[in-house]
Amino acid sequence: MALDARAKALKAAGQPIISFGVGEPDFPTPEPVKDAANLALVDDATHYTTVSGDPALRKLVAERTAEMTGVPFTWNQVIATSGAKEALFIAMQVLCDPGDEVLLPAPYWVSYAEQAKMAGARPVAIPTSAPSWKLTPEDLRSHLTDRSRALVLCTPSNPTGAVYSDAELAALAEVLADRDVAVVVDEIYARISYVPVGRWLRAAPEMAGRSFIVDGVSKAYAMTGWRLGWLVGPSELVEMASAVQSHLTSHPSSITQRAATYALQGQAAVEATVDEMVGVFRQRRDAIVNGLSAIDGLVCGEPDGAFYVFPDVRGLLGKPLGPKGRVVSSSSELCAYLLDDALVVTVPGEAFGTPGFVRFSYALGMDQLHEGVSRVQQALRAA
Ligand SMILES: Cc1ncc(COP(=O)(O)O)c(C=O)c1O
Repeated sequence: MALDARAKALKAAGQPIISFGVGEPDFPTPEPVKDAANLALVDDATHYTTVSGDPALRKLVAERTAEMTGVPFTWNQVIATSGAKEALFIAMQVLCDPGDEVLLPAPYWVSYAEQAKMAGARPVAIPTSAPSWKLTPEDLRSHLTDRSRALVLCTPSNPTGAVYSDAELAALAEVLADRDVAVVVDEIYARISYVPVGRWLRAAPEMAGRSFIVDGVSKAYAMTGWRLGWLVGPSELVEMASAVQSHLTSHPSSITQRAATYALQGQAAVEATVDEMVGVFRQRRDAIVNGLSAIDGLVCGEPDGAFYVFPDVRGLLGKPLGPKGRVVSSSSELCAYLLDDALVVTVPGEAFGTPGFVRFSYALGMDQLHEGVSRVQQALRAA
């Protein structure tokens, strides 16, 4: 968000910035969803809702979760939150006490670590490696201690785009079978995947009593600004989550809840728009992987989901680059160089606990994408 703000300021100053830093779809919210929000206003749905959110919305979320996992859920096992981010924050508050450890496969989305700290816990990174970027059962086992309280899994992952299969998830669950460790699964990118997405509770239904599933409409329905996510879990933990929310935000916006309820109904027109968006993302992924792979010294894998690529730039460090022969010694210096000299915004791997890599979001139009990649190619070619 900081990089995005700097890019916006440069853009406002008239600079032709191209941003690969964005963490949101560049598509508009589907029209019928906007209509539902307009109707909510006409209906004067402008008052407080129940703290956990409208039952109609929670019922839809419970049904979807049950459908995807095969585990039965009822609407009182769901709370609607102001974005998935609030759901994750509340999950940490509910699960963690001071001194607890929260296991984060690295690279991880930066808010996980900060939210764990805000709950008094200590984030513990478990490094994973390219090209799969997936946590292995061995690495999980070797990082477990008596203080381990929760594991956060993000699939598809921000920033790597890695998507776990059911079999991979089941193997991780096995490691936790006799340990008192809760699992928080962030599925915010689950709809944006080019391969079948594994589901934690389908793979490990026995973990339902100590797992939180987090998702929302932000990425799937291009509704980031509306702020609507949810937390699904065992009743007693969800009750605690609702108590936290009652003193935090009360509940997400009433209008937003109505729009999200419409979005989740599975209407053909809405789903077709989402499918089209995912198809466009896939074309862009192919284009950016091709473009970046043409740079000597940079290694770019082909992620299975989300809208990010996370290439290895270590081969470029310490070597003169671009027309000015600029030498950079870290991925964050490389990103600063790209912003200053190529007017291109990227996010350094340092922000995800994994230096030596750079995250490029491809949530931007194809023309911009090609222009941006061409600037990056020029800036990073050997001097
Ligand atoms: C991995 C991950 N989880 C959660 C979120 C937050 O989603 P929301 O906008 O619904 O709060 C993001 C947003 O960038 C994300 O990348």
